[in-house]
Amino acid sequence: MHTVFAIIGGTGFYQPTLLQGLQEMEINTPYGTVPFQIGDYQGKRVVFLARHGKEHHLPPHRINYRANIAALREIEANYVLSTTAVGSLRQDIPRGMLVVIDQFIDLTKCRKHTFYDGTGGEVVHTDFTEPYCSHLRKHLCRVLKRKGIPFQEKGTYICTEGPRYETPAEVKAYANWGGDVVGMTNVPEVTLAREAGLCYASLSLVTNYAAGLSSQPLTHQEVVEEMREKISMIRDVFMETIVTLPEKKDCRCSFKEDYKLG
Ligand code: HPA
Repeated sequence: MHTVFAIIGGTGFYQPTLLQGLQEMEINTPYGTVPFQIGDYQGKRVVFLARHGKEHHLPPHRINYRANIAALREIEANYVLSTTAVGSLRQDIPRGMLVVIDQFIDLTKCRKHTFYDGTGGEVVHTDFTEPYCSHLRKHLCRVLKRKGIPFQEKGTYICTEGPRYETPAEVKAYANWGGDVVGMTNVPEVTLAREAGLCYASLSLVTNYAAGLSSQPLTHQEVVEEMREKISMIRDVFMETIVTLPEKKDCRCSFKEDYKLG
């Protein structure tokens, strides 16, 4: 079966400029219609989806995560790479650092977060011992290393509801919980991807120190600017990851039978 790769672009990543034969498409899902672009890169089929919309018109709590992941499932995407802009919760993770996150803590409050909402009496509890695809993460790390790009191999992502930034007290609490970075969009994207049996990894770019770790107030502008500065490098890393990803995988992302109860 032909492997399809997907990229979900976060803040500052709205165009998949390296793809050839780019076509704009829409896909209808039970959760809504999703616009995306599809093209080729060195013989690989790649789908690109702008998480906040091409004009960044959707705040984190208004993104239709279920439609996005359902659409990727519909077009039979096997692997999903996403970007996430994050604030650092630790002085030793500076602005500009890339983090291949491996855990999350979910503090979102009012999002449609599951495909298994109990309709039809189906009760499904999904295992999240390894929240992100180990195969994709491992290879992403390999590519970053090969390119000599500084990055952290692991990190715990705290996902807040937003759209406001955190208070310094929250930032202190999140750091005490073991959080490394904070953002507003990775949940439920990652959890829905797992429910759908997709291999999913996210590369977080630290765009700022979280509130209270720097003396300056936070602005969306600085987040966008840092992302803009790094986006061609990230795009490059993703494309190299896609082109060189080993076919044989050892992850359990698509072993859905295991999760069913009763
Ligand atoms: N907090 C939450 N989300 C973010 C931040 C932050 O400091 N920076 C980029 N996205």
